[in-house]
Amino acid sequence: MKAKFLLASLAVALIPSLSFAAGGPEVKIVGTTADRTDVASLQRGARLFVNHCLNCHSAQYMRYNRLTDLKLTPDQIKQNLMFTTDKIGDTMKAAISPKDAKEWFGAVPPDLSVMARSYTTERLGAYLRGFYKDDTREIGWNNLVSPNIGMPHVLHELSGTNTVKATVFKADGKEVKDDSAAKALAQKAFIASNTMATFEHHVEKKDNKVESSYIVKTMVPGTDGRMTPPQFDVAMADLTNFMDYVAEPHKAKRIQLGILVMFLLSILLAAAIWLKKEFWKDVH
Ligand code: HEC
Repeated sequence: MKAKFLLASLAVALIPSLSFAAGGPEVKIVGTTADRTDVASLQRGARLFVNHCLNCHSAQYMRYNRLTDLKLTPDQIKQNLMFTTDKIGDTMKAAISPKDAKEWFGAVPPDLSVMARSYTTERLGAYLRGFYKDDTREIGWNNLVSPNIGMPHVLHELSGTNTVKATVFKADGKEVKDDSAAKALAQKAFIASNTMATFEHHVEKKDNKVESSYIVKTMVPGTDGRMTPPQFDVAMADLTNFMDYVAEPHKAKRIQLGILVMFLLSILLAAAIWLKKEFWKDVH
């Protein structure tokens, strides 16, 4: 029990700093991840999800009564987590209709049932932390991970409001000699950033000349929210953890089974090696 607890707190304390570029700018994530076996984290994630996401999104493959998996009683589920229906066997539906959403946001909020799988949990966690104020946009918000997305920053009361600083690196023939020098400088700034950051390469054609520049955007903390930045980080790790559970409720069991199978296979391997030695002992 103690070991399990230690392991879980270790996973929460782990601060990965990794980057990815799947379909969008290369993003550097600075943040916390949560552990799939941490039931308290999944419960907190569930609460955030039903309170803040089901207003606009559905999770049509998730039924409320499945939440008993997370050690919640049907009564707890009914009283604390069900806002868009009163039938516990129902799937998680959105509070607004797709038609209204399309009208208000210009895009239909996608179903979130398997979002964690298509988006990956790292990218999802970064997306949820990646909102910043952008007055050039009608909705007033933008996102580092998914630029120009139609979703407003619905959690800004919790997180507070961030802004973004964009720095452009390009060759000027003097201090920054050429394109590769500009790229190296940009990469250095990207890696050195201790907040979430993105790295983009822009190529523009101007008067038959190709202009290349590198843009590094870094998140700048702004006004405070109800949570401190580390608290918000943990909350988003919980929310991502829950969405990962929704996308694949059996994942924890699958991993356990995998470990068991590997263990059994290694016993078989040891037995096979021993047998081989026994068989060949007399031959030499
Ligand atoms: C006010 C309505 C609204 C709420 C509340 C809302 N979203 Fe969204 N969300 C949208 C809209 C609209 C889009 C589609 C935007 C687009 O395609 O441009 C979207 C898109 C997304 C995407 C896809 C992003 C991408 O890159 O394609 C994810 C993931 C997402 N939402 C997660 C969440 C989560 C998690 C919550 C709860 C914290 C949430 N949303 C709450 C409106 C909302």
